[in-house]
Amino acid sequence: MVNLDRFPFRQTLLENRTLLITGGGTGLGRSMAIKCASLGAKVAVVGRREEPLKITVKEIEKVGGAGACAQCDVRDVTSVKAAFDSIEASLGPVNALINNAAGNFLCASEDLSDNAFDSVVKIVLYGSFNCTREIGRRLIKREAEGNILSIVTSYASTGSAFVLPSAAAKAGVLAMMRSLAVEWATYGIRLNAVAPGPFKTEGAFSRLMVGELEKQALRRVPSKRFGDHDELTNLIAYLLSDASPYQTGDCVTIDGAEGLFSGQQFSGFAHIDRASAKEMMSAVKPKK
Ligand code: HXC
Ligand code: NAP
Repeated sequence: MVNLDRFPFRQTLLENRTLLITGGGTGLGRSMAIKCASLGAKVAVVGRREEPLKITVKEIEKVGGAGACAQCDVRDVTSVKAAFDSIEASLGPVNALINNAAGNFLCASEDLSDNAFDSVVKIVLYGSFNCTREIGRRLIKREAEGNILSIVTSYASTGSAFVLPSAAAKAGVLAMMRSLAVEWATYGIRLNAVAPGPFKTEGAFSRLMVGELEKQALRRVPSKRFGDHDELTNLIAYLLSDASPYQTGDCVTIDGAEGLFSGQQFSGFAHIDRASAKEMMSAVKPKK
């Protein structure tokens, strides 16, 4: 396994950031919250369930950070405004946002009910818009610079069978980040997307990696392992920091080349031991 302690960031990397993470009570959101707090950011987490949010705040405090939480349904504009108000009352003006909250499930598209499609699109696309517009308005009013990241997925650019509402919504979020990177540069607001491949979390794996799918997913990653949360959170920290001021409108994929493996005709050779693969290749080499 990788040892990221060999490449530590300065512990003050994010000391001037007050960061709000949607869906920060669980999974990748919680890992991002703890990492950013350990690098000096004040971190607020919001989501629908209070219990996981409170646990994350305790974890933030354990690493010496200042944390806060607010119950919030990102689909509801009033709830989003109230969450920002409550977080700003305890931590001060928010200048960074991670749109991380998501909903997803496997379903054949012909079987999707109206509400099933709505539910995912409203969490992912509308939720990201509601939060992005809210922080944008506040930053612009204060004439303050800001930084917005959206967690999409590696299939945001390609689409994906059997998770159509998520694929459509994530593509929309990506388009939103790219559009606003141009529109809001004048205000000093940077926007980027991060597109992870599979990272183990209860939320994602319990819903999506059913039956053989987890094994199949692992076979698509050339290094034959899923990503470590630390590998993702280091990327997040870099993109939120003053180390990346010229990076905006970008989508950084972090999938161990899973997407490339899937798209390359002869990538299957990577799963055959190299000596046998060479033998197979030389068998079809013309003899002199
Ligand atoms: C078909 C389903 C369904 C399923 C729910 N629905 N699950 N339809 N197959 N498996 C339908 C319901 O029947 C209902 O429609 C509608 O969706 C809304 O469901 P509710 O349970 O009422 O909605 P809600 O309580 O708002 O919950 C939203 C949710 C739920 C998305 C359905 O799963 C959730 O809360 N998820 C949050 C966490 C999450 O999904 N994390 C994974 C993120 S991973 P009807 O018509 O019956 O009313 C990810 C990328 C991973 O995004 C990529 C991995 C590589
Ligand atoms: P997760 O633990 O299920 O995270 C989803 C979070 O979103 C939960 O904390 C959930 O909390 C919150 N949420 C859902 N609906 C909400 C709503 N309406 N309002 C506010 N919060 C809401 O899954 P995860 O794997 O960590 O996923 C985090 C992000 O990474 C998502 O954007 C996902 O698409 C992306 N991603 C994950 C993977 C992976 O392999 N894990 C791969 C690619 C992309 P509540 O239920 O309490 O509201």
